[in-house]
Amino acid sequence: MTLSVRGLVSGYDRSAVLGGVDLDLASGATLALLGRNGAGKSTLVMTLAGLVPVTSGSITVDGVELAGRRADVIARAGVALVPQGRRVWSTLTVGEHLALASRSRKGTWTVDGILDLLPRLRERRRQLAGQLSGGEQQMLAVARALLTNPRVVLLDEPSDGLAPAIVEQIAAVVTTMRSEGVAVLLVEQDLHLAFGVADEVAVMARGEIVHRVPTAEFRRDPDTAQRLLGVA
Ligand SMILES: Nc1ncnc2c1ncn2[C@@H]1O[C@H](COP(=O)(O)OP(=O)(O)OP(=O)(O)O)[C@@H](O)[C@H]1O
Ligand SMILES: [Mg+2]
Repeated sequence: MTLSVRGLVSGYDRSAVLGGVDLDLASGATLALLGRNGAGKSTLVMTLAGLVPVTSGSITVDGVELAGRRADVIARAGVALVPQGRRVWSTLTVGEHLALASRSRKGTWTVDGILDLLPRLRERRRQLAGQLSGGEQQMLAVARALLTNPRVVLLDEPSDGLAPAIVEQIAAVVTTMRSEGVAVLLVEQDLHLAFGVADEVAVMARGEIVHRVPTAEFRRDPDTAQRLLGVA
């Protein structure tokens, strides 16, 4: 299994958020992670990336234990995070972002390959990231993650605030990642995007994964979606 999580507990100073998460994700699998606001989705992906400390439990990538390791060690082990709200470096250019990211792990993804996939970024190569539109910043955040040639990609609401055309491009990038054997965990509110790219759907509630089924099965069961998410 590319990513295996067992009994993962984590949280912030005064509050435990994750209450023992178990999660397996295979190479080339895409799992959509849904859940109400505050369910703990971002806390899960940030814990997996080493940005929220692990209280207890195990996280392995290709069999290597990563729980309790530093974020940079986890990144070098092949875990890439596209955080909620993008977080690009506003005073670096697009080209500088890509050059930095491509230093980490060599593999199939190159700067040229990424720019072919996201031509808008090629046009903006010399521009400061802080001057990009929201959609362009999101593309840059995705490009930066891919250039580290990850085994596992954690995308936290990549479609947030984006025009449909850009959401389509992100969907195409996720599909390409899947065909390259990357394990993708996609936190998403946009159900159209989630259903379009994910093999399976998982739902988080109160810091636990309470439901996980193939996407087609989830779509056939609106009652469960309504009960867990409050949507039809
Ligand atoms: N930096 C923080 N310090 C303290 N508590 C936090 C922090 N970040 C999140 N929390 C709390 O942890 C819980 C889970 O938040 P989290 O951001 O993981 O939820 P989420 O499922 O990503 O929600 P959303 O759909 O709104 O993005 C919430 O109760 C939140 O208030
Ligand atoms: Mg969140």
